[in-house]
Amino acid sequence: MEQLQIDILKNSLPVTINNVRVPPIKCQGIKTKLVSFIFENINWDAQGRWIEPFMGSGVVGFNLSPEKAYFADNNIHIIKFYKDIQEGKITPAKVEEFLQHEGTILKEVGEGHYYYIRERFNNNPNSLDFIFLNRACFNGVMRFNKKGEFNVPSCRKLDRFRQAYITKITNQIRWIESVIKKEWVFKSADWRNTLAQAREGDFVYLDPPYAGRHTDYYNTWGEKEDEDLIEALLNLPCGWALSNWKENRYRKNPVVEKLEGMEDEVVVKTYDHFYHVGAKESNRNKMTEALIIKRGYEV
Ligand SMILES: C[S@@+](CC[C@H](N)C(=O)[O-])C[C@H]1O[C@@H](n2cnc3c(N)ncnc32)[C@H](O)[C@@H]1O
Repeated sequence: MEQLQIDILKNSLPVTINNVRVPPIKCQGIKTKLVSFIFENINWDAQGRWIEPFMGSGVVGFNLSPEKAYFADNNIHIIKFYKDIQEGKITPAKVEEFLQHEGTILKEVGEGHYYYIRERFNNNPNSLDFIFLNRACFNGVMRFNKKGEFNVPSCRKLDRFRQAYITKITNQIRWIESVIKKEWVFKSADWRNTLAQAREGDFVYLDPPYAGRHTDYYNTWGEKEDEDLIEALLNLPCGWALSNWKENRYRKNPVVEKLEGMEDEVVVKTYDHFYHVGAKESNRNKMTEALIIKRGYEV
């Protein structure tokens, strides 16, 4: 398990995170592997709120667990899920019982049961069906069609809800339950509305969809959005850090290139990681991730 010493809250309570924890929700672009890199590079006094306009799974903010936080995403299901935990409507015990029950039927009936739950969720969204689908769907991805309906097919492994898997999920929910504070705000909103809330003393961490990648009902992102976002960031009254990809073996990201040219305003930190295409070791590809930080808030 990754060991991480955090110095982010320098002028406030020092925070030490020994293990990077994984939240119950899986989503594309989850930053679990970058949590330490992000915190090691940000310097903020934690007097204001930690704001995330693109919270996704929430792995970054939940690992920091600040006193004051404002988590937002345009995906209403993610927001409702975490609000339900905050309000005690979703508990580890409820999720365990639900997954044991539905998991047994899935094993007995087969994928027809997955599609039954998917339809039930699309007709009447609720957090229990949401976590079931998120943890039973093909490849653990999150995708919604043009009508906003969850449309990922079933996984192949229909006996996946064994007790060890259920315990892993309920422990992830127990962890969220233990870090979530009742003052934290969870809001389903477009990023523009979230940025409009930022005040002096806050810190905004942004992880927007990467332009030209995964597109769906909640993720339509292109050059125009990147341009608007950068303009808004340069006018923010507080510190901020933006995650984006910098380059792979084929391409460079023009957004990061542009920001690298703004040396008076920002500092760009990079992190290389590798991914495999297929099984061959020779197909190991490098991807460089960037963290663009408002100058003055870097370590
Ligand atoms: C790359 S993911 C964030 C991943 C997150 N940092 C994590 O580690 O799990 C991007 C998120 O932005 C949300 N999103 C996309 N377009 C948005 C918009 N216009 N306003 C607010 N959120 C948006 C998506 O629903 C998705 O959850």
